[in-house]
Formats: sequence, structure tokens, C-alpha cells
Amino acid sequence: MTKIDVLLGLQWGDEGKGKIVDVLTPAYDVIARFQGGPNAGHTLEFGGMKHVLHIIPSGIFHQDKINLIGNGVLIEPNIFRQEIDALAEKGVDATKNLYISKKAHLILPSHRMMDAANEQAKGSDKIGSTLKGIGPAYTDKVARTGLRVGDTLAPDFLQRYDALKRMHLRMALTLGFDVEQFRIDGMNLEEYEQQWMKSLETLKRFRFVSSEYFVNQCLRDGKRVLAEGAQAMMLDIDFGTYPFVTSSNTITAGVCTGLGVAPSSIGKVMGITKAYCTRVGAGPFPTQLDDETGHRLCEVGHEYGATTGRPRRCGWIDIPALRYACMINGVTELYVTKPDVMNDFETVKMCTAYKIGKRTTDEIPYEYNTAPIEPVLTSYAGWRHSLLGITEYNDLPEKLKEYLAAIERETGVPIAAVSISPDRRDVLFKQVQ
Ligand code: GDP
Ligand code: IMO
Ligand code: MG
Repeated sequence: MTKIDVLLGLQWGDEGKGKIVDVLTPAYDVIARFQGGPNAGHTLEFGGMKHVLHIIPSGIFHQDKINLIGNGVLIEPNIFRQEIDALAEKGVDATKNLYISKKAHLILPSHRMMDAANEQAKGSDKIGSTLKGIGPAYTDKVARTGLRVGDTLAPDFLQRYDALKRMHLRMALTLGFDVEQFRIDGMNLEEYEQQWMKSLETLKRFRFVSSEYFVNQCLRDGKRVLAEGAQAMMLDIDFGTYPFVTSSNTITAGVCTGLGVAPSSIGKVMGITKAYCTRVGAGPFPTQLDDETGHRLCEVGHEYGATTGRPRRCGWIDIPALRYACMINGVTELYVTKPDVMNDFETVKMCTAYKIGKRTTDEIPYEYNTAPIEPVLTSYAGWRHSLLGITEYNDLPEKLKEYLAAIERETGVPIAAVSISPDRRDVLFKQVQ
């Protein structure tokens, strides 16, 4: 019986999870998503090509590997179809190696409408949702009113779809939302719905499975399974910066509920962190830089959302948040991405604690959203060196290695590898795998 390894983000998302999953896929038999949905944007780059995945796991370009969409994931059929078409354009036929849990919930067009209606109702307190319908679809799941992938095969599917849609329309009315003016990709609700129904036919071409049996059988057969997280620790519904979070458990515990595996089946937990920090959407971000340095991180790092194109807020690496993430997730090894973005920096800073009034703490306070948090910063000399062409961890500039050693020391977790460009080739493992 093998264990299931986990790979997830330790910050506010976009740490480079997709890229690292793609790099690690050759060592696995199955890559499985366990939560989130089309709010995710996971970027893969190789052979001069760039590809962004939203619902489909990042192992899909390795056609001899099985990719699984677990029960904890949300599927929006139109976005799913677009992803399948985009893969086909690149010569990838996903029908052969992509399996879908019958228990995964569906995002209806009216869930997307409700996402917009809720955000509008919140006014200046809005979350900055990706507007893919995540919150409303998970709400229906928990309220026991949702529709699942397996339901599409039931004879009463359309009646149930209509009942749910009517409920959403009544809710939108209560919120004073203008349904007539609402558009998704330039289409009104009915036009989008027609496409959605057509896309269901694409979805039905895939193999629907009871993913809990499938994954557990794989583990019993000695197969290697990698669980790919979406979003990240600080966006977790329970432990993130609530209410500025997503609506799922993005943490290691989410693997158990999102795939149906026992806690004792968890193996390695690989935590991904940028060498700095970003956040897209609203919510607290103590190390955010609103100055020229923040602007430089954004521009050099191309920090624009892979799903929405919004500019990401940028700042220094946040050790209290990373330590918290390592604790909650049981991280066994770190992957550090994007140090190359700071190649020209004279000084690189690291937040090691928070100052809140007269108190200094290295814990994430309950009042994270409201307390005036001042980051306590330690400065490190920049390495002032291009990382282009470096192929061995040991050949990284000494100053960068010192900065990386400080991350290990502060978190108490060893670094497994460092990524130094968007390309698949540029991941330097610290020890030979
Ligand atoms: P994910 O959501 O965690 O998969 O990350 P995203 O794909 O949303 O964002 C990460 C961005 O950084 C993408 O544009 C990647 O191509 C890029 N990227 C990943 N690793 C590196 C790296 O080491 N250096 C640089 N410069 N870019 C990277
Ligand atoms: P990946 O997997 C970064 C953010 C949104 C918003 C909040 C809630 O690419 O790292 P939602 O649409 O889930 O209701 O939005 O969460 N968010 C992400 N930020 N990366 C993501 O995914 C995100 N998915 C959601 O910006 O602040
Ligand atoms: Mg992303």
C-alpha cells in the first residue's frame, strides 16, 4: 500500500503549483485535483509553449498518466469544454486519461450569476471573487441542494436543474440584482445556458468514476498518486483570512474529504512558496508593498492573474504565514519558486514577525483583517546575478543560498527544490531525487 503525496500552495495562491506538478508527474501514476474549480489558473511552460489549466489536473500533458478530478472539485461544463478544446489544439486528447468523480459538484450558469449578485450586494466589502460561481456552488453542496456530475445521467436531471435555477433567480431578485443585464462572456443567462447544456455532452464523453474506490485501489496496487492543490493555505475556508477566502478546504485535510482517502494514507506534503509573496483579490496582506519595489515585483514577475488577468498585489515573503501553513498542512518539504524575479534587487527582505501595537507576535492573530499589523523585516543582501543557465542547486549564487537557508531555518522545513524560470526545465533539486 503506497501513500498519497500532496502538493499545495502555502501563500495566497499562484505559487507555481501547476509548474511543479508538471515537473513531478513523471514520478507518479495518477495526478488528482481534490478541491476548488475554475477559480484556479495553473500555468505550464515547456518547449516554448505556455498553457493555463483551470479544472483539469496539471499532469494532463503526460498522456501515459491518469488525471483525476476528485469529488471535492467543482466543474463548470463550459469552462471544462474550453479546456478540452484548448488541449486538443495542442494535440492532447484528454478523453483517454482524464477521469471524473461522479460526486464532483456542477457549477450552473445561475451559480455564476449568484457569485456576481453576492459580490454586488457586498459593495466595498466584496471578496474579489474570480466570479466563476465557486461560493454559490459550494453553498448548494453544503445546503444539500447541489447537482453532481453523476446526476447528469439521471432521467430527472433537467427538472432538478430548473428547480435550482429558479431558486437562484428568486435569490437574485431579493438582492436587487439585475438579471437581464447580467452577462457571462458577452452572453445573457439563457444564451450561456444553451452552451452549458451542449457542454454537458462533452463532459459525458469522459469516464465517470467513484473516485474514492479508484484512488484507494491505486494505493493498494502500489501506484503513486499525487494530490494537486488549488488556491492555497491562506485562502482556506477555515484557516485562511476569512471572509476573504475561497469556499473550500485547500489544506492537506482537504485531500481526505476531496478524494476519499484516510488521514493515515497521506505521504509527503510538498509546500510551494514564492521567494516573495502575492495576493489577488481583497483581504489582508501585511507584507504588501505599495511602492516602487512592489511595482517591480509585479512587472518582473508578470504578476497578473492566470484566470482573471487582474494585477496581483506583491510584497516580501511572510514567515509567520509560512510557519502557520507548515503547521496546518504538515509540510515535509518546500519548493521555492521565482527567486529569479529578484535577481536585480540590492536588498531582499523577509518578514519574521508581526508588530501589532506594542505587541510582537509570530502567530497569525484572529484579528488579522482588522489589526494594524506592521511586518518586522530582516534584510538580506541581494545576489545581483542572473540565474539563467544554472542547472545545479549548488551553483546558485551564495547570497541566494543564504536567503534560501534562512527560509529553511525560519520555517524548520527543508527545501527540496528551487524553480528559477517558468519553464519545466528550470527546477533545481537540492538532493538528487
Ligand atoms: P499556480 O496557480 O500556483 O499554478 O501558479 P500560476 O500559474 O497562477 O502563477 C505562477 C506564474 O509564475 C506563472 O506565470 C508561471 O509560469 C510563473 N512561474 C512559475 N515558476 C516560476 C519561476 O521559478 N520563475 C518565474 N520567473 N516564473 C515562474
Ligand atoms: P490558484 O489555484 C489566487 C482568490 C480570489 C478571491 C478569493 C475568492 O491559481 O492558485 P473565489 O473565486 O474562489 O470565490 O475567490 O480567492 N482566488 C485565488 N487567488 N489563485 C487562485 O487559484 C485563486 N482562486 C481564488 O482572487 O480573492
Ligand atoms: Mg494560479
